[in-house]
Amino acid sequence: MTTPDDAEKKRTPVAILISGRGSNMMALVEACADPAFPARVVLVLSNEPDAAGLTWAADRGLPTALVNHRHYPNREAFDAALDARLREVGARIVCLAGFMRLLTPGFVARWPDRLLNIHPSLLPAFKGLHSHERALDAGVRLHGCTVHLVSPEMDSGPIVAQAAVPVRADDTPESLAARVLEQEHRIYPLALRLLAEGRLHVSGAACQVRGAKSPDGALSNPVG
Ligand code: GAR
Repeated sequence: MTTPDDAEKKRTPVAILISGRGSNMMALVEACADPAFPARVVLVLSNEPDAAGLTWAADRGLPTALVNHRHYPNREAFDAALDARLREVGARIVCLAGFMRLLTPGFVARWPDRLLNIHPSLLPAFKGLHSHERALDAGVRLHGCTVHLVSPEMDSGPIVAQAAVPVRADDTPESLAARVLEQEHRIYPLALRLLAEGRLHVSGAACQVRGAKSPDGALSNPVG
């Protein structure tokens, strides 16, 4: 007989790393609140003591941790402390959700194909900070967000999911960011589901998704 406890144990333990507001973390937590979702949250960790997301998670009774990077002499020591916390709670997947610290290659190597990141652009375009502002400056007609498996180089690694939004003539970085963020909250839980279900297969620089359909047709902007 399978008990609810057994079913819970089968869900992959996931840790979510944040640095601030935490809206993507909230979207992941909400997805994991469904007992049928293949992952469960075992830790929400922040490197910033004032991260609003940390309070949100603690208020909901989720296990939280603060690992303040300022308390470590270098990146290696900080990453070793992170790694120790993640292993302590038995995490099998780590989701970077607005986590604004670069991770060392050593850390990344310890989480092969188990480390996801979300970035607010259609990678490989606009890596790094201020992606919305730079997308507007570049005059792109479509912008968006990407969830990818993490490689040591910043905002790089096999792409799991992307969503595109139109850029409008009257967009500001803020209005564009808001349109993209809605899509972030949609594709991050989807990408976590695919990874937790073992449906991702990395082949070279690319990632194949087993058993998922892509929509037909094209997304274009402006509409004629
Ligand atoms: C999100 O837009 C996320 O994509 C971005 O920071 C924001 C965090 O918001 N991440 C990066 O820029 C990482 N390169 P949130 O704290 O509300 O999830």
